[in-house]
Amino acid sequence: MNVPSIEETKRLLSEAEKLNPGPWINHSILAADAARNIASYHRDLDPEIAYILGYLHDIGSLTHSFPLKNLDSYSGNNDCNAEEFDFIKKYIARVNYSAYDELIQLCDALTTPKGFCLLEKRLVDVGLRYGVNDLTVLKWKATFEIKRKFEDVIGRSIYELLPGVDETTFL
Ligand SMILES: [Fe+2]
Repeated sequence: MNVPSIEETKRLLSEAEKLNPGPWINHSILAADAARNIASYHRDLDPEIAYILGYLHDIGSLTHSFPLKNLDSYSGNNDCNAEEFDFIKKYIARVNYSAYDELIQLCDALTTPKGFCLLEKRLVDVGLRYGVNDLTVLKWKATFEIKRKFEDVIGRSIYELLPGVDETTFL
C-alpha cells in the first residue's frame, strides 16, 4: 500500500493542526496507536501502515465515518456542497472496504481525545453530541460487527491492546 512516510505523516498532521487546532489532533494520534496495536496481532495487516492511516484518518479517510454504507448515517455537521456530497456517496457505494478501512472505523470509535474507551461509551457520547437518527442503531451494529471480526482474527479482546481503557471509560 502506498502511504506517506512517518515523517511526512507527522508533518501533515501538524500542518492541519495549525489550520484547525483542537482535540481532534490528540484523538488522531491515539487512534494511530490503537490501529498499530491491533494490527500487530492481525495476520493481514502491517502495524506501521495501520499507524499512518490512523494518524491521518480525520484528514485523509473518506471511509472512516461510514461503517454503515449510507451517508445518511453520518452524525455531525455536513459542510459538503452538493457536488462533494454526491462524490462521497458514489465513492462509498462502490468501494469495497479493506481490513484497513474497517480497522480505522473501529479505532475511530474507540478513541477519545483523552484516551481509549469502551465502544459503547464512545458511540453514546457521539449520539449525545451530534444526535441520532433512524440509521444510528444499524451503524452501531456495523461497528460491533467489525469489532467481532477483528477479535476473531486476533484471538483476544481488542481492549487488551488499548492501554488505559479502564481509566478513560470510567472518567
Ligand atoms: Fe476520528
